[in-house]
Amino acid sequence: MSAWPFPFWIAHRGAGKLAPENTLAAFRLGAQHGYRAFECDVKLSREGIPFLLHDATLQRTTPEHGVAGERPWSELSRIDAGAWHSRGYAGEPIPSLDALATYVIANRFALNIEIKPTPGLELLTGQVVGRETRRLWQGSGQLPLFSSFRPEALTGARETAPEVPRALLIDSLREGWLDEARALDCQAVVTNYALMNFETTARIHAAGLKALVYTVNDEAAAQWLIANGVDGIITDAVDRFSPAE
Ligand code: G3P
Ligand code: MG
Repeated sequence: MSAWPFPFWIAHRGAGKLAPENTLAAFRLGAQHGYRAFECDVKLSREGIPFLLHDATLQRTTPEHGVAGERPWSELSRIDAGAWHSRGYAGEPIPSLDALATYVIANRFALNIEIKPTPGLELLTGQVVGRETRRLWQGSGQLPLFSSFRPEALTGARETAPEVPRALLIDSLREGWLDEARALDCQAVVTNYALMNFETTARIHAAGLKALVYTVNDEAAAQWLIANGVDGIITDAVDRFSPAE
């Protein structure tokens, strides 16, 4: 098992809600606030190019509609992913994973790639994101961290990039969640922070894994989680939580 690659504080979708999520402008803003580790959501274009978008559909964060993964990259790359947020970000494009990799590797930032497949494409998305991540990070001396709510996506990523550490994301303590993480050779479990407490961190640690949480924006909650042993916090509040490392 390779060394744990992550700083404690991780900026959610680049810079939380302060900039348009999952754009390079957001990562730049998060970095201006001192962040050196970032989470992003990645899915595939129609021809299989990994790009950043949270939702399966385009309407919340762009002027377009419909399933993003049904569009070719030639269309996706020209869509405005900034204007919905505020005028100053109008024209900010949807980035490819390739473009984000260039940015984070140049700055030696840590990246948590949440594999967020278009429904029905879980295994394929994991396989392709794994293959592309391996190619993009090769020779950089760094590795990102994969995470996903979808175990099939982590299975796919393990097939094509077994050396890249994996984390199982969970939003409920469903039957067998820790066994699932172990079966996928995960190095971490990332839970909704409402699920995490001393007992849960202790169970995760006893299995030899790290315990991370999303999305913590409240100071008292963060302090409580730290006291209960979490190994990392994903936050929107990049202007209020100053990363120590
Ligand atoms: O990866 C942690 C967090 O981003 C998971 O939830 O919906 O914000 O992608 P979501
Ligand atoms: Mg996410």
